[in-house]
Amino acid sequence: MDASVPRNKAQDPILRLQGLSKRFGGLEAVSGFTMTLERGELKGLIGPNGAGKSTLFHLISGLYKPTKGNFFLEKNELTGQTPDKIVAKGIARTFQTVKLLENSSVLESMRTAFFMSYGYKPWDLFFHTKRYRRQEEAFKEKAHEYLSLLGVQDLMDMNGNELAYGLQRKVSIAMTLCLNPKILLLDEPMAGLTHTEKNELTETILRLKERFELSIILVEHDMKVIMNLCETIAVMNQGRLIAEGSGSEIRNNAQVVEAYLGTSDV
Ligand SMILES: Nc1ncnc2c1ncn2[C@@H]1O[C@H](COP(=O)(O)OP(=O)(O)OP(=O)(O)O)[C@@H](O)[C@H]1O
Ligand SMILES: [Mg+2]
Repeated sequence: MDASVPRNKAQDPILRLQGLSKRFGGLEAVSGFTMTLERGELKGLIGPNGAGKSTLFHLISGLYKPTKGNFFLEKNELTGQTPDKIVAKGIARTFQTVKLLENSSVLESMRTAFFMSYGYKPWDLFFHTKRYRRQEEAFKEKAHEYLSLLGVQDLMDMNGNELAYGLQRKVSIAMTLCLNPKILLLDEPMAGLTHTEKNELTETILRLKERFELSIILVEHDMKVIMNLCETIAVMNQGRLIAEGSGSEIRNNAQVVEAYLGTSDV
């Protein structure tokens, strides 16, 4: 590379949301939402129930099409693309309600995620092509590695839906790693976990972020978790971004206090 060319690239945000809106009939659940996520950033996204946090994730993951606005991964516009295309470009997410495959082993759930991003066709499986065998080998190795990172490698053959909730959450995070993401959207990954499990998962998220060079948006109601984990916190209320900053900036923001009035969350 020509050393005289300024390298501004490192300063470009990895994700850029520009005026995103989603209307459901008379309700604008997400309203003119503009925000950036920097490369390697772990941003907390908080807001009262019904603020629009999950809807925003549905927009970024392509499950909903925005009524207005655009969003970009690096320089590529992803607005209007289908969920599989968005996953292939590098945005993976977990769901507020965990969704593992029905009546299937943990390994099967992992396999579905893996083959979504590593592109393999039904005939590969049918004819046991070389490509299938090669990918199956790679899959088994990676599945073991990712489940081990979450501490659930011994559960591979268990029926995913029969696992305790905390374990299902860990499996669902391991599944996102199979998608080879650049950006991870975590929708309340700590909900329903015990205090000890929350501490463990906090450590794990930090480890995964470093190991896979992830940029993360974390939606979470537990303010202790948010304050411990996140460099920056964005606050959403009634579909809008009302504040963004460090923990202390957020706590002292009059609009944030107003939004949370009557709750003990902030
Ligand atoms: N498919 C839908 N159709 C109509 N309204 C919807 C739909 N999905 C969400 N909403 C409404 O949009 C608003 C935002 O909901 P959303 O689930 O995004 O909030 P949230 O911030 O994730 O809340 P929580 O913290 O409770 O998970 C709510 O008023 C909700 O009722
Ligand atoms: Mg939600």
